[in-house]
Amino acid sequence: METLEAIKTRRNVRQFTEQAIPDADLDQILAAGRLAPSAKNWQPWDFVVVTDREQLQRLSAVWQGGGHVAHAAAAIVLTLPVLDDPHRKLVARFDLGQVAAFIQLAAADRGVGCGHSSVGDQDLAREVLSLPADREAAVILDLGYPADRPLAPLKRHDRRPFEELVHRGRW
Ligand SMILES: Cc1cc2nc3c(=O)[nH]c(=O)nc-3n(C[C@H](O)[C@H](O)[C@H](O)COP(=O)(O)O)c2cc1C
Repeated sequence: METLEAIKTRRNVRQFTEQAIPDADLDQILAAGRLAPSAKNWQPWDFVVVTDREQLQRLSAVWQGGGHVAHAAAAIVLTLPVLDDPHRKLVARFDLGQVAAFIQLAAADRGVGCGHSSVGDQDLAREVLSLPADREAAVILDLGYPADRPLAPLKRHDRRPFEELVHRGRW
């Protein structure tokens, strides 16, 4: 898939078929996340991949908006070091956003749908994933083949109008 086509195709998928994602595709999606840029090439992230149904079900409870994780074929939990310094925290989250975008686009390229879940219950996430105490689960990207409608470039995007948000040369 062309990059721009993948960008237009990507959407949050929250309903998945029971079809498993081939390991090679899952690895390609993870490898795309690894290639994301980061400030000073810090790469503060680690990824925990989950395909076990019981673990996915438990993970779906870490956030009120994460119920869809229970039915996904896989989840990639993006983790960061626990940081005190507010600036480093901000930089790490920005970096992780880029990882998330790369993963979503690589998934779209493979015909795999991707959803997000925030993480509220950090203790539960730590327990389910056996995270070390100095790591936190920042966001969950759940993956699978869409059960609602096939992935295809969207004709209309629910976004602010282009002319409203683009300022040329000055505000
Ligand atoms: C940081 C972040 C956290 C999100 N958390 C959730 C979530 O907890 N549950 C959920 O269903 N969607 C979550 N989303 C998905 C957004 O609601 C979604 O991206 C937005 O509504 C735009 O829709 P689209 O991705 O289909 O274009 C999250 C997205 C981002 C970027």
